[in-house]
Parts: sequence; C-alpha cells; structure tokens
Amino acid sequence: MTKKTYITTPIYYVNSVPHLGHAYTTIACDILSRHLRQKGVDVRFLTGTDEHGANIEKSAAAKGVSPKEWTDEVSAKYKALWKTLNISYDAFIRTTDPAHEHVVQAIFEKLLKSGDIYLGSYSGKYCVSCEQYYDESEMLEGGICPVHKKPLTEVHEETYFFKLSRYEKPLLTYYQEHPDFLSPKYRANEIINFVKGGLRDLSVTRTKVKWGVPVKSNPAHTIYVWFDALINYISAAGAGMFLCEGDKAEHEEKLALIKAENFDQLWPADLHMVGKEIFRFHTVIWPAVLMALGMPLPKKVFAHGWWTVEGEKMSKTLGNVIDPAELGAKYGVDPVRAFLFREVPFGQDGDFSMTSFKNRYNADLANNIGNLLSRTLNMVSKQQPQLPQVIDVDVEVVEKIAATEAAIDRAYEELAFDKVLEHIYAYSADLNKKIADTKPWELAKTDPEGALKILLEVIACQRKTAEWITPFMPTIGAEMSKRLAAGPIEKYAPLFPRIADK
Ligand code: ME8
Ligand code: MG
Repeated sequence: MTKKTYITTPIYYVNSVPHLGHAYTTIACDILSRHLRQKGVDVRFLTGTDEHGANIEKSAAAKGVSPKEWTDEVSAKYKALWKTLNISYDAFIRTTDPAHEHVVQAIFEKLLKSGDIYLGSYSGKYCVSCEQYYDESEMLEGGICPVHKKPLTEVHEETYFFKLSRYEKPLLTYYQEHPDFLSPKYRANEIINFVKGGLRDLSVTRTKVKWGVPVKSNPAHTIYVWFDALINYISAAGAGMFLCEGDKAEHEEKLALIKAENFDQLWPADLHMVGKEIFRFHTVIWPAVLMALGMPLPKKVFAHGWWTVEGEKMSKTLGNVIDPAELGAKYGVDPVRAFLFREVPFGQDGDFSMTSFKNRYNADLANNIGNLLSRTLNMVSKQQPQLPQVIDVDVEVVEKIAATEAAIDRAYEELAFDKVLEHIYAYSADLNKKIADTKPWELAKTDPEGALKILLEVIACQRKTAEWITPFMPTIGAEMSKRLAAGPIEKYAPLFPRIADK
C-alpha cells in the first residue's frame, strides 16, 4: 500500500469569521497540493475548524446562541470561503465531530495509563484569549499577556498534566536528526533554545471550561483546547482504529462516523503548514504527545509569516480586516491567490496594500501573461485560423522549458512559492521580449513562414506557462490552456483586464 502525501493546515478557531490570514495558509496548501497532483502524487489535503474552549463559549454567549449553533454557523462560513477560493481540500475536520472527540478521549485515557498524564494542581497567570498560561519570563511587566496586551488572570485549579518535561532530550535529538522538521531553517533556533531552556509539564485539562471534550474517567474536567486541537491531524487520518479500549461496540459506532481511513497510508504527515505564532505548539507539544503515543512524527512543520494591512495589524477594532472573498469578487479569485504568493517570500512577514496589488496585477498578469496570450493568438489568426496539436520547437526552446521546470520544482521543494512565480513570470517576460525583438508582424510581410514559426513556438511555450500557473490560478490556467489548445482561434476577452489607476 503506497503512502499518500499528507498535507495539513491549522484548524481555525470559530470564534470569529475567516479573513485573509486564514486564506493565506489554506491557499498555500492548496497550491502545493495542486502542484503535487499535477506531478502524479497522491495527495491528501486536510483542513478544518477548532471549535472548543472558553473563547468560543464566550463568542457564542455574546451572540446569544448556543456554542453548537455558533460553531455550526462559523464552520460553514469557512467551508463557503474555501469553495469561493477554489480550495481543493480532501477532508474537513471539526473538533466537535463525535469521532474526533472519541479519539481525543481515548488518547487521554491511554496517556493516563502510561503515566504521561497525571493529576495535580496549578496556580498561574492565564490568558483566556490565548487559552494559555504564561510564566514570569514570558508575560509583560505587570502581568500582561504578551500577545493580547491584556491583564492575565490568576487561576488556581486541579488539573491534569502532560509530562512534557520527559521529552526534552528526545525532542532535541529529533530536531538534530531531522533537520527539515523545523522549517524554515531560520526559525529552528528559537525552538531549540526554548526546549534547551527546560520544559515544564503542561496543564491539559480545565475545570472551569464547560465547552470542551470531557475527560472520560473524570468528567469534571474538560480537555485543554490545544491538546484536543492537535489531535485532529491523526483523528482525521483514522488513528482511532489503534486506540480501541473499553467498550468495543461504542468505539466502533463512534468511529463509523468518520470516513474509513487507512492510517498507515496517511501518517506521518508530510507537512503541517502553520503561522509562526503556533509553531511552538506544533514543534514541541505535538511531537511530544506523539512520542508518548509511540507514533511517528510529522516530517516537516513549516511556519510562514504574518500579514499586516497597509502597515497595521489586521484587527476587528481597527476595521481593516480583509475579506478575501470580497477582494476576489472585485478582481478575480485567481489574481488574489497569485498576488499573495508573489508579493512576499514565503516564510517572511508581509504587508498587504491595494497599491501593490494593483501594480502587480497590471505588471505580472495584464501586461505580461495576458498581453502575450492575446497578441500571439491574434497574430497567428491573421495567418491561419487554427492552432495545431503538435508544434515542433527548436532544441534551445526545449532546453529552456526543462531548465525552467527544474527551477520551479526546486522552488516548490523549498516551499518558495514566491520563487515559483518569479520563474514563471520571468519565463513569460522572455517570450514577450522575443516577440518584441523579432517583430513577427513586420517579418510576416517578407517571410510569413518564418513569422509563423516564431509565433507557434511562443504558443507552444505558453502551453507550459498555462500548466505552471494552474496551481496558483486554477480557473485562469484552465482557460488559458483552452485558448491555446488545438482548434480554431476565437476572439476572446482579455484574460486579465487591466485595473485602471484610479
Ligand atoms: O491558532 N497572517 O487558530 P486561528 C498570516 N485553532 N496568517 C494568519 C494571519 C495573518 N495575519 N492570521 C491568521 C489557531 N493566520 C488554532 C490552531 S491547529 C491544531 C490549531 C493563519 O483561527 C495562520 O495560519 O487563530 C495562523 O497560524 C492561523 O491562521 C491561526 O488561526
Ligand atoms: Mg490565533
């Protein structure tokens, strides 16, 4: 049985509606999945929503609805946005899926038995928005949350702990032996130093939070939302099959609710794509839990940077939250998808501005790719009404295609989506230059055959461009391929109508 390539996004909180940041991570996974499928790889792409915890309980209460109604509503909004943005995910997990909850409970009991989870008590400073405790070294002066800049709450509670401290050495060894695990490389040291600084056991249950998965053997406790959430990656992959303990009939009934999966075909994940603020959860806590379970670790966790908007942090209070669906409705979903990955080297932080969006749209798409397509089709049509199936091209052209494709593939391997697009746009710019230099419209007067040869060669090259842009721009890539396919040349509207300056 062959292993599939298993790629995941974070599962997003349903305490507020999706925005550009969530779309960014999900589109990144979509581009990669589409690229790999083009190469014949069997991909499994998972996304979903994270639906438990105090924050979600609170946002539901604020809307005057039950947590269940609220999570149904917001989870559906995520699904709708992914449809609009043409996201080709294979599975969507919700942490309120009974099968997932069942797996979380089973894992908890298993770790309780192995001594990796034990009952204790805790006092500390807690941020309700982060759902996380902060110690003295992490909080800002005066007991303030470093992320939300709000006062932390003093909390005393009986709680179960996960023996994270046990995994300090194994984690460090793992990082050392698997240099790709912490990606990009420039983010590795922060994690290594954090672990070297010493790991303390992690509180993994709450008694004050009602909206969560109850501990099976002690339902006064609900399971910490992060512990619950991380498990999605294996519960969605069918891990439940390995955790059968207790009532077998109940177990099978619950698991029947999840699509039967072949765990070994999916796990370990090839890539967890995450934003940089949750890198630590995925590279310290999550691998430690997997080690405790005796399960293999994901091959790579990649943390990308954060988007700001016109220089500001995106926030509801500032009212500058970008809705990618709205932007897509105005300028086309595909140009938005491509822009996000050309503008910023993948991994780094970036700033979204309308000026930059419009400039890149006009330069890369309208003037470069779109213009080349319409002028070459137009010039060919003056000489012959049809495009042939097979176009013979010179060896240099074949070589350049191969070299470009190799460069593109290398860039994908590094998840350098910006470089992939750079290669594609540069390739297209060279074709535009070839047309400008050889002037087939003039050459046609004295040497029509020579002019046609040049034009058809450029048509053949654009067939490759169309293929290459498809993971980024699935609809436009398909449309471009259709226009370039064998058959009569028609009159077409521009692929990328220019955006006017004002
Ligand atoms: O953290 N720029 O969910 P979340 C770039 N439920 N990416 C951004 C972004 C921005 N401004 N804002 C959000 C959670 N993101 C947990 C995850 S996983 C087991 C549990 C993206 O709704 C980025 O991928 O807060 C970030 O990691 C994620 O959304 C956080 O989504
Ligand atoms: Mg967050």
